[in-house]
Amino acid sequence: MSKPIRKAVLPVAGLGTRVLPATKSIPKELLPVVDQPAIQYVVDEAFEAGVEHIVFVTGRNKSSIEDYFDQAFELETTLEKKGKTAVLEAVRRATPRAGATSFVRQQAPLGLGHAVWCARDIIGHEPFAVLLPDVIVDAKPSCLAQMTEAYERVGGGNIIAVNEVPHEEVDKYGVIDPRGAAEDGAIRMQGMVEKPKPADAPSNLSITGRYILQPEIFRLLADQGAGAGGEIQLTDAMARLMQDQPFHAVQFTGDTYDCGSKIGYFTAFLGLALKNGEIGKEARAVAKSLLED
Ligand code: G1P
Repeated sequence: MSKPIRKAVLPVAGLGTRVLPATKSIPKELLPVVDQPAIQYVVDEAFEAGVEHIVFVTGRNKSSIEDYFDQAFELETTLEKKGKTAVLEAVRRATPRAGATSFVRQQAPLGLGHAVWCARDIIGHEPFAVLLPDVIVDAKPSCLAQMTEAYERVGGGNIIAVNEVPHEEVDKYGVIDPRGAAEDGAIRMQGMVEKPKPADAPSNLSITGRYILQPEIFRLLADQGAGAGGEIQLTDAMARLMQDQPFHAVQFTGDTYDCGSKIGYFTAFLGLALKNGEIGKEARAVAKSLLED
């Protein structure tokens, strides 16, 4: 049996330059999407898939993320006294179990590969997940849960979630090189490349921001040189690990929202508001009337 995925890394050190000045004093991961911060969706996804411990790789000006996931004693006592049980329940539900989180600093913005490498001591020698918090995936079962199912089915190794994107947009993503068609819902890979020019891209299957990786990746990240954009890329280290270990891609079912850009953030907010149990109906009516004006 493959080793279970007990730990997940969430890289949250990014500066959020694409949505400045909104992110000047608020980490982009804490921007609200309908009724909770963007990062809450991603943390819920990890725990739903059976993850027991989350390692946040943070940076300067990100300590409010650690505060957000702490217990808010005064707030909770006040809500309790006022009998605001529903909102109190929502606040409590957002707080992970004591000891289920770690925070480690990425001291310099050297790239995603370097951010993941910063979690190596806490992950240790076991397979782990990486979830990029810019990306919210609305899916049932969750995207990571679909990946862990595939991980069991194919007998372990490394699993990458992928989405089909228009060919002219491949230069915004990591792109995989499939070895053949999907078998049992997973595609064996023979390569991957970070942000290729459309003419050089091996496919239009983009890496979504969800990974299950074996710990040997850390050894490769340790000496990984800078790649696309002058940054240490996780994609480049994964392409090297593929020489020794199997990698499968999973085309999961669900809606993917990339909150890292203005239009992506807007789409996530609108899309999730329309589906929201409490305000969905009203949100639809509001959106309709705004379009008719
Ligand atoms: C990162 C990864 C890329 C992936 C993307 C998904 O890029 O390096 O492979 O496709 O996330 O959002 P970034 O968006 O940080 O440039």
